[in-house]
Amino acid sequence: MTIGSGKWLKKKLKELQLVESYHRELTNETVAKQLGIPPSEIIKLNYNENLFIPRAKLVELMREVAEECDLRIYPQEEENRLKEQISIYLDVPADCVAVGNGSDELIDRIARLFLEKGDKAVSVAPTFPVLRQCVQRQGAEYTAVPLLSNFEPDVKGLADAFTADAKLLYLCSPNNPTANQFSKSAVTGLIAKFSGLVVLDEAYAEYADYSLVQLVEKYDNLVVLRTFSKAFGLAGLRLGYAVASAPLAKVLAEKAALPFPVSVFTLGMGRKLLENRSMVEKSVEELKAERGKLVQRLNAISGIEAFDSKTDFVLFNTAKPFEEVYEKLQRQGILIKKFGKLLHLENCLRTTVGLPEMNIKLLGALEEIFR
Ligand SMILES: Cc1ncc(COP(=O)(O)O)c(C=O)c1O
Repeated sequence: MTIGSGKWLKKKLKELQLVESYHRELTNETVAKQLGIPPSEIIKLNYNENLFIPRAKLVELMREVAEECDLRIYPQEEENRLKEQISIYLDVPADCVAVGNGSDELIDRIARLFLEKGDKAVSVAPTFPVLRQCVQRQGAEYTAVPLLSNFEPDVKGLADAFTADAKLLYLCSPNNPTANQFSKSAVTGLIAKFSGLVVLDEAYAEYADYSLVQLVEKYDNLVVLRTFSKAFGLAGLRLGYAVASAPLAKVLAEKAALPFPVSVFTLGMGRKLLENRSMVEKSVEELKAERGKLVQRLNAISGIEAFDSKTDFVLFNTAKPFEEVYEKLQRQGILIKKFGKLLHLENCLRTTVGLPEMNIKLLGALEEIFR
């Protein structure tokens, strides 16, 4: 028998256990063990990670950063240096930037700072789930308005949800998992209509047609989230940032984070990649070329409908049950993400745009499954 756990803690634990948590996908190691093959043979396409940035180049840059930063000193100046680089990159003032441990952590800060019981957050469905989970944990309400069948936001439906208790609007564009970028007019129209805090998650902006980050100069209730996890290939390091009006950025940086939340090494790597932007831009172009081929070849398979993408992943719907497709791929060491029903589509799956040889294997396996 355990001791110490009183009634209150038991109740609290029960409540917290009901809060939805982020679904962790399979790793190479787990599946390799099941299949009895080396982890290096697994094709991991389930987290929208970017393998187009050469790993050897990252190792080279890490060595440079290791030489440049002094781990004995708190990371104040390195944060300033990164903010300066972001300011040049996006043409926004450096004091409009707040850095965090991935954009996920900034979503969490936003929920903790701006939402409480009785408040409502509004978003679309389907979309990236982290805000919904943070909203639930705050004891606030989450309202999701389904996207239209062309994956555009239902502007009228959303406007109807902008009631007095609606404090936060979350839009992810390009959207995960639908992979489309919402039309500029829909997003700007929604920002103009909403008087609470608008969070525009642009995690995939580097792969898309445009960014609306400049709008932070016009709307003081807008936060744009960006990340180093996708185009910059630093998912493992955990680095994201928010761009907002200077007072809002200062609150995000100082009022929900502990002092110096991001390590000097992580900040240094972000700066280093911005200093090596041509390498990042080249890898984005390579991925986009591969993405076009992947969508085309998926659509050439009878029984698969793949959708256009402005991200580093592709959503597709299948005529066969999604579970069956997912499991058959897994048995061959190919890991993608399953969604099942999304809007009017019954069997949705999502794959990262992998390196050419990975996509060839995925397509070969799918051709076999749908033969
Ligand atoms: C839309 C969106 N926002 C945020 C994230 C998380 O980014 P980060 O790694 O910076 O926390 C992801 C990751 O897949 C994402 O798809």
